Amino acid sequence: MATALHGSTPTGTPTDDAVRAALATVDDPEIHKPITELGMVKSVDIAADGSVAVTVYLTVSGCPMRDEITGRVTAAVQGVAGVTSVRVSLDVMSDAQRQELAASLRGGQAEREIPFAQPGSLTRVYAVASGKGGVGKSSVTVNLAAAMAADGLKVGVVDADIYGHSVPRMLGAEGRPTQVENMIMPPSANGVKVISIGMFTPGNAPVVWRGPMLHRALQQFLADVYWGDLDILLLDLPPGTGDIAISVAQLVPNAEILVVTTPQQAAAEVAERAGSIAVQTHQKIVGVVENMAGMPCPHCDEIVEVFGTGGGDRVAEGLSRTTGTTVPVLGRIPIDVRLREGGDDGNPVVLSAPESPAGAALRGIAAQLTTRSRGLAGMSLGITPRNKF
Ligand SMILES: Nc1ncnc2c1ncn2[C@@H]1O[C@H](COP(=O)(O)OP(=O)(O)OP(=O)(O)O)[C@@H](O)[C@H]1O
Ligand SMILES: [Mg+2]
Repeated sequence: MATALHGSTPTGTPTDDAVRAALATVDDPEIHKPITELGMVKSVDIAADGSVAVTVYLTVSGCPMRDEITGRVTAAVQGVAGVTSVRVSLDVMSDAQRQELAASLRGGQAEREIPFAQPGSLTRVYAVASGKGGVGKSSVTVNLAAAMAADGLKVGVVDADIYGHSVPRMLGAEGRPTQVENMIMPPSANGVKVISIGMFTPGNAPVVWRGPMLHRALQQFLADVYWGDLDILLLDLPPGTGDIAISVAQLVPNAEILVVTTPQQAAAEVAERAGSIAVQTHQKIVGVVENMAGMPCPHCDEIVEVFGTGGGDRVAEGLSRTTGTTVPVLGRIPIDVRLREGGDDGNPVVLSAPESPAGAALRGIAAQLTTRSRGLAGMSLGITPRNKF
């Protein structure tokens, strides 16, 4: 039986203050801060006989530190004068409590959310992917973006090809991002807002980062860049199925995949494989673009099938089979010197030669992507979407 008067009522029952003061000496074993400061003490109940019941919030259920925390709390409260027994119960923080904790750990600054990943977001996000490199993803991305912007839509492009960034040049975006407060303002060109790691590295310095840094860069591009209200966001991915593709799936799960391939058999096989990753990440494949689909002969009326034929159909069929949905071929873009030149001098062919076969094909694809009725799953707007945003 405890006899000390300090921290106890005249009858010997410990006070709430004394028990909480003891709890303030208990550090969370992982965060190394007092559990009282971390909002982890849910309740303290002191009975007249000196038995104390403490309920502690764990940050996550199944917290590996649960026994450690229970032990520390028990030991600390047991030392309070007048305490006859200690019972520790555990509860789990709600999402809101966890976010509050995370914010207080970051010094009161809440981590910026990715606006495009929020359930009510009205921005359509398309990630342009391919299996092989050099099939024209970046060319397709910038031309779709320029065509959509010319059509009056608010469009942004993230150059998510951190190592092989090429979008700013192709789009003619020479400006550097500026910083306002702690937001990054993206430069724009041809009516398209664009951000790229190339804007942050001096000269043509290569970026040598591993997965986590790539993920962080992409997260910043999506969350810390001030995009405003966008109708469309296009992500130009690096080739293949690497870290960035996985990060995109994690950061913007509602991003739909646009697969680019050439008509070539080998390219189609790899593109199909890249696209089928979307099945694992539960992302939707919006369609297939066949690029470099034949070249009009400059001397005759023939089309020269430089890369063969059938790649787009093959990928679309394969992906339809894998996903159990209809994945369409949205368009075929012929080989066109003007498309390549437009990429080299930052003047997209959809603007410089909109009626050329390549320009027209790209505009046709852009139109299909912007006029699709929006997937309203999970949104209750009570209205019917118009043709365009
Ligand atoms: N339809 C086309 N006609 C002519 N040239 C094209 C066409 N499509 C792409 N190109 C050219 O092919 C090259 C590769 O294109 P691009 O950089 O867009 O491909 P990518 O898939 O983004 O490549 P990477 O995998 O390296 O990122 C560029 O020089 C581009 O100008
Ligand atoms: Mg590219």
